[in-house]
Formats: sequence, C-alpha cells, structure tokens
Amino acid sequence: KSVDLHPTEPWMVASLYNGSVCVWNHETQTLVKTFEVCDLPVRVAKFVARKHWVIAGADDMQIRVFNYNTLERAHMFEAHSDYIRCIAVHPTQPYILTSSDDMLIKLWDWDRKWVCGQVFEGHTHYVMQIVINPKDNNQFASASLDRTIKVWQLGSSSPNFTLEGHEKGVNCIDYYSGGDKPYLISGADDRLVKIWDYQNKTCVQTLEGHTQNVSCVSFHPELPIILTGSEDGTVRVWHSSTYRLENTLNYGMERVWCVCGQRGANSVALGYDEGSIIIKLGREEPAMSMDSNGKIMWAKHSEVQQANLKAMGEAEIQDGERLSLAVKDMGSCEIYPQTIQHNPNGRFVVVCGDGEYIIYTAMALRNKSFGSAQEFVWGHDSSEYATRESTSMVKIFKNFKENKYFKPDFGAEGIHGGFLLGVRSVSGLAFYDWENTELVRRIEIQPKHVFWSESGELVCIATEESFFVLRYLAEKVATAQETKEGVTEDGIEDAFEVLGEIQEVVKTGLWVGDCFIYTSSVNRLNYYVGGEIVTVAHLDRTMYLLGYIPKDDRLYLGDKELNIVTYSLLVSVLEYQTAVMRRDFGMADRVLPTIPKEMRTRVAHFLEKQGFMQQALAVSTDSEHRFELALQLGELKIAYQLAVEAESEQKWKQLAELATTKCQFVLAQECLHHAQDYGGLLLLATASGNTTMVGKLAEGAERDGKTNVAFLTYFLQGKLDKCLELLIKTNRLPEAAFLARTYLPSHVSRVVNLWKESLGKVNQKAADALANPTDYSNLFPGLQEAFLAEEYLKETHVRLRPAAEYPLITVSRYTHILGTLW
Ligand SMILES: *[C@@H]1O[C@H](CO)[C@@H](O)[C@H](O)[C@H]1NC(C)=O
Ligand SMILES: *[C@@H]1O[C@H](CO)[C@@H](O)[C@H](O)[C@H]1NC(C)=O
Ligand SMILES: *[C@@H]1O[C@H](CO)[C@@H](O)[C@H](O)[C@H]1NC(C)=O
Ligand SMILES: *[C@@H]1O[C@H](CO)[C@@H](O)[C@H](O)[C@H]1NC(C)=O
Ligand SMILES: *[C@@H]1O[C@H](CO)[C@@H](O)[C@H](O)[C@H]1NC(C)=O
Ligand SMILES: *[C@@H]1O[C@H](CO)[C@@H](O)[C@H](O)[C@H]1NC(C)=O
Repeated sequence: KSVDLHPTEPWMVASLYNGSVCVWNHETQTLVKTFEVCDLPVRVAKFVARKHWVIAGADDMQIRVFNYNTLERAHMFEAHSDYIRCIAVHPTQPYILTSSDDMLIKLWDWDRKWVCGQVFEGHTHYVMQIVINPKDNNQFASASLDRTIKVWQLGSSSPNFTLEGHEKGVNCIDYYSGGDKPYLISGADDRLVKIWDYQNKTCVQTLEGHTQNVSCVSFHPELPIILTGSEDGTVRVWHSSTYRLENTLNYGMERVWCVCGQRGANSVALGYDEGSIIIKLGREEPAMSMDSNGKIMWAKHSEVQQANLKAMGEAEIQDGERLSLAVKDMGSCEIYPQTIQHNPNGRFVVVCGDGEYIIYTAMALRNKSFGSAQEFVWGHDSSEYATRESTSMVKIFKNFKENKYFKPDFGAEGIHGGFLLGVRSVSGLAFYDWENTELVRRIEIQPKHVFWSESGELVCIATEESFFVLRYLAEKVATAQETKEGVTEDGIEDAFEVLGEIQEVVKTGLWVGDCFIYTSSVNRLNYYVGGEIVTVAHLDRTMYLLGYIPKDDRLYLGDKELNIVTYSLLVSVLEYQTAVMRRDFGMADRVLPTIPKEMRTRVAHFLEKQGFMQQALAVSTDSEHRFELALQLGELKIAYQLAVEAESEQKWKQLAELATTKCQFVLAQECLHHAQDYGGLLLLATASGNTTMVGKLAEGAERDGKTNVAFLTYFLQGKLDKCLELLIKTNRLPEAAFLARTYLPSHVSRVVNLWKESLGKVNQKAADALANPTDYSNLFPGLQEAFLAEEYLKETHVRLRPAAEYPLITVSRYTHILGTLW
C-alpha cells in the first residue's frame, strides 16, 4: 500500500495489505527487517531518519512507532476513528500529520508525549493523502474523495483555500519543489492528473492518458519529470514543463499504489499490488564536458556553469583530491541537458536532452543552431556533426547546414562520432565516410562506445564485456575505393586490423597519442598501450574522464556530484610510448631526456615487453632490471660492471654461467671466485686442465673451510699428505686411517693412535679393539712391501704429467709393485 525511501541508508520501507511492514535493502535486494504490525492492512509507513523510526498507520486506527535499530515498538496510540490513510513527517519540527477515513487530519507532537496538537476539519469524505509544502513548511495540502484539494496552514484549523476541478475523488497530491513555479499536482478517480497554480488557484494543465483511477502522483525532486501511477497498472512519465508523455512503464504487477522519489538521487520506488520496484531514472553520467584548454562546462538541472582549470593558480594538487574551482554561471538552457559535449576545437558545445539539441558558442552560451534529434555526435573535423532523427534516419551537417541524410541499411539504433561515422544496428556497427556516406566497413559487434584516436589511425570499440583496439588502414581503404577490389556488402575487408582485445569494461575513455586512457567498470583508471595495461589509479567511486591536459601532465575526471578530480600522468611517458609503438626511435630519443629519472624504468619495462631489449637496457635506471637485460642480451661488460657495483653473490653466479656458455673462462673464473662457488671453480679448473688454478683452488678452499673441494683438489694433485692432514684436521679419523692404509702406510700407526685416543673418549672397548700395525704386524700382511711402494711412488705421485703423456707411461713398470700391494 505504501513505500518510502530512507534518506541515507539504501533502504525502502513497504507497508503491506496483510499487516506487515518490511524494510528492504535495495542495493543487496535483501529483507533487512520486518514488523508484524497487525492483522489489518497497513496503508502507510514512513521513515523518520533523525529518530531511527518507522511510523506505521493501519486500519485498526492505531499509529505505531518502531525503532528500526532495536526493532522495539517505541510508541502506539489510537489516532483516528477510522482507517488511517496517510502520514506526513514534518521536515524540521517534531510533528507528524495523519489523515483518515474519519475525514480528519491531525497533528501529533512527539516531543510532547505524542499529544494531538491540532485537528484540521473541512473535508467531507476520506482524506487520502497529505503533503507538506517543501518551500513553506507551515503549509500543507490534502487530497480527499470529496473531490477537492485543500491547502492548510499549521496553526489554523480551517483550510486556507480549496481547489476544485476533479470530477471524482482525489487520491493523491504533491508539491513541485523547484524554485520557479507555485504548483501542486493531483490525481483522481476521474483518471485525470491536474497541475494547479496554488497562487492564482487555477488548474494550469490536465494530463490525460491513464485508463483507470489515478492512485499516486509525484513531481520528481531532481529531474524535470512528473510520475503518475494508476490502477490501470502503469506508471507514466511526463515532462514537467512541456507535459509531454515521455514514457509509460508497465511491469505487469497489477495496480500501482505509490511512487516515491528522493532528493539527490535518481532512484524511484514504486509500490504495486504484487510487489515493489526500484527504478533508476535518467543517466548516471553527469552532463559535463571539458575543452582542450581546461574549460569545463556542466549542467546543474537546466543551469549551465563553467569552471576554468587555468584560474586555479599554482596550489599543489594531490592526485584524487577534489579541486576547488571558481564556478561561473553561464545562464540557463532551454532544454533539460542530459549531455554536454564540446566540439573538437572547443568553440562550440552541444547540449542534448528531451529529444532535442542546441549548439551554443562555448564562450557566451549563445545559441548557434538547434533541432530535434535522438542523438548528436561531433565529427572529426570541427565543422561536422551528425544527428540521429529516428531509428532509420541519420543526418550529416557541415558548417551548421544540413549536408546529407541517409537511411542506413539495417537502421540506426545509435550513432558514434569521430574519424568515421559509426552507426549501430542489430547487424552490428557500420562505419561510414563523413563526406560521401559510403559504407567503409561493417563489423559484427554491439558497441557501447567508440573512441577514435586523434590521428584517426586507432579506434577503440568498447562493448558490454570487453574492448577491442583496431588500426584503421586508410591507405588500403583508399586503394579499395579506387580499384573496387576487396569490397563486399560489408564494406572494405582490409579497412581494419585488430590489434587486441582486453577483457575489461570501459566506462569512459580518450586517446592521447597511441595510448588509450579509460575508466573501467571496476573503477580503475588505466591506460592501454601496445597490448599493455598500465594502472594510473584505483578510484573510490565512479568517475568520468573529462580530458587530458598535456601541459599539466594531468588527467581530469568528474563525478556524479559534479566534483572534479585530477591524476598526474606524464605526457613525456605517453609520447615516448607512442613513438615506440610507431617504431619511431628518433622521436623516442628526443623525448627521452624529458622523462624524469624515476619514470625511466617503467618506460624500460614497456620497451622490454615490446621486445626492444637493447633500448630498454639503455633507458632503464634500475640496476636489477639492467642486469637482467644485460644477461638476456649477453652484454658481459655491462653485466660485469653491475655485478661489481651490486656485490651480490647471486649476480656473480648468473654472470659466471653466462661467461661459461660464452667460453669466457677468465671472466667465468673471476665470477666464480666472487660468488665463492668452489664447486663451479673445481669444474672449470679440471675441465680446462689448468694446474695452477687447481692448486690455487685447493689452498683457497681449505682456507675457506670448503673441505670437500679442498680434499678433491689435493687428491687430484697427488698431494696425499695434504689430504690426510685435512681428514685429521676435520676429525675424520677413521677415514684418515683408511686413507693412510691405502696410500700412506707409513702414517697408519700415527693415525690409528689418534683414532684410538679419540674413540676412547666415548667407547674404550671399541678403542681397545683397534689394532695398531706397529704392535700387531701379524695382522697386517704385506705392510713392509707397502712401505716400499709408498717410498717408490712418492716421486711419481707428485710429478705433474700433462694428459698427453699418459699413453707413454707403461703399465708394466708398475705391475710388480701393484702385485705386491694388492
Ligand atoms: C505478508 O506478506 C509478506 C510478503 O508476501 C510476507 O513476507 C509476510 O510474512 C506476510 N505477513 C503476514 C502477517 O502474513
Ligand atoms: C492563505 O494563503 C495566502 C497565500 O496563499 C496567505 O496570504 C494568507 O495569509 C493565508 N490565509 C490564512 C488564513 O492563513
Ligand atoms: C495562473 O498562473 C499561471 C502561471 O503559473 C498562468 O499560466 C495562468 O494563466 C494564471 N491564471 C490566472 C487565471 O491568472
Ligand atoms: C476506481 O475508483 C472507484 C471509486 O471512485 C471504484 O469504485 C473502482 O473500483 C476503482 N477502480 C478500480 C479498478 O479499482
Ligand atoms: C535561440 O536564441 C534566440 C535569440 O537569441 C531565441 O529567440 C531562440 O528561442 C533560441 N532558440 C533556442 C532553441 O534556444
Ligand atoms: C690458469 O689459471 C690461472 C689463475 O688461476 C690463470 O692466471 C691462468 O691464465 C690460467 N691458465 C690458462 C692456460 O688458462
């Protein structure tokens, strides 16, 4: 039976015929709270946000007050002697007004224990609705089935005056809240809606159209529209100045009982027999536009205002902060602007709304041309524009004169301006030549937006799911137009080349050079260049790109509340990236010095991703990045220099690997040394057969405690005593004993004694079980021969023989010795 919107929470309260009152969150579409009021219909429920209340009036004649936080009933009282139809909450005083089938209106003061402050008598039938005048809170109006509207003053119990004109009972009433007109609107069972001037007390307009009793009327508090609901199941939308019927909404939910708009928002709640609906009216996007010099124009209702970024002074600007701009009133517009758009050179602005457009001079807002059109787009050339008259007719204008009109083959559901004229239809997007309206190319895509780069070489086509970047091949188009080759019914096949598709939803966008800057559906401020996405900022709310001022290195954006914010984005970086994309390295080199040092690495990463490693290495200022690039490029000298600076073991290791693969062994050796990579050094030394190196490595390794490497290198050099000493030093006594037994029998006795001594500390028994050959020579057959062999081999072992000599050493010379040994 009624709906009301909360002023700050995303809540709608609905009172139902079955006696319940429900509070819904309309953002999450969930039921937040329910109040079981009574068994009879509850015809009205209202929020009183400043008290956290829901107040309900029901057919049991009771008013109930609930706290919506605690869900407790704060108060209840019998207000009337018949059904309660309506409650009006005073905007500032602690009052509510109630109206009833008992023909009375009553005022209640909650600060005085809900005392009835006044009774308003005069109606001779049910009082269906009461509404307080938003421009004068002491005045209110009432609608009654006695076919009249009465206007009352608080403090006076009889009506100030009565408006008569409806032929049947009046169900609903509303005040116009705009400043200019003293109007009331009413709806009645005569199926008519009437607009009244309550100053001269005449009916200024009657709106006909509803086919059943009119149950609710509303002047929208923000938009220039009137909403009316009826028992015929429709909600009609009328223009509030021309009274033209703009739209008829039919959601098939039976009879409409209430409409509730809200100040500062474009959502409207509708209450039906079978449920409630929240609709959003108008465009979310503000009517705002900026020219290339930083002049921003916007519409606040029909008032056009301008702000100049240049007048902002030198104050330090923070990214994302609201700018405080001096605003200049430009005058009001004859139509209610839904969009404002500067032409490319900024001399004119077009304002569109209500199916009409007016072109004004940007300087003085003087009208230059106007007409009716569903849509208006500027051309690439500042003197050109196109309008869409209907779903089949597109007109092209040049210098404010109609130049051509045409009927696109598949109709025109939308048009897109820019380098080519885009026409959207069920069959996709068709691009036409502005000059001769010839079809250039039809593409099977349903675009939301089309953005052309200034040069006309690149175009971004944004859909509901993603966006595509295409290159326009003007030369191929010219050739095809001449030769007629490659021309099909869908236009010139080679007209475009797809460069990429990105799975992001573009809300607003613009090109700077070859960089496409955009806001996305998840409130990112990004730009696309050469297949890469760079995020400039994460926005905390929906914002709309207005433009880019290269001189300031700044992007400007606006929001729904007409705030302007800015984010810095260096033009030098964009120019550089554009030059790279065009493979114009001469240009890139000229731009480079203007890029601040701290941005160089970002640019270098871009170069790297585009495959320009050498350039990336030259540009990068980050040593890590440069080292990586140098490695990838095999630039040993640069990598070496960076490794020296960084003193990082990891870098030396990487460089050693690279040097090895490049057969730069001297360098590899140095790197391995720096990296203290003894394993690597051992491999290098042995593989290259460099004895000096093996020798040095052995000493170094022992010094640094790399005993495994030290042992191996000593062993390779035949320095067996060193090996033995190393084992003893590291307390590897059993191993030492066996090494001695194998290669150095003269040391066996000494080592076994050390072993026994050491083992004795933990296990005397085990230590005793070890036999020293000096004491038990019987247990060590051939030991004497072994001493001899050791003596004999001493010289041979330590002699260094190049590998080339190996075949010359005859096995026989050794065999007799070997035979005695093993
Ligand atoms: C009234 O109807 C609503 C919606 O259908 C339902 O959620 C609620 O439980 C009903 N209340 C009563 C008292 O039947
Ligand atoms: C009735 O309203 C008029 C303005 O419409 C006002 O001038 C007049 O004082 C009011 N009369 C009473 C009795 O309030
Ligand atoms: C009352 O005022 C309206 C303007 O609000 C005007 O159109 C109308 O002619 C006036 N009627 C009389 C009778 O003065
Ligand atoms: C319209 O209102 C009349 C009373 O004026 C009522 O009898 C009729 O039933 C209403 N129409 C509908 C469709 O409910
Ligand atoms: C254009 O301006 C002229 C006078 O400057 C005015 O008479 C006319 O109504 C205006 N038309 C539109 C559509 O704004
Ligand atoms: C062997 O290594 C040493 C350094 O350990 C080096 O100075 C020398 O040049 C190397 N010799 C050859 C033949 O590479």
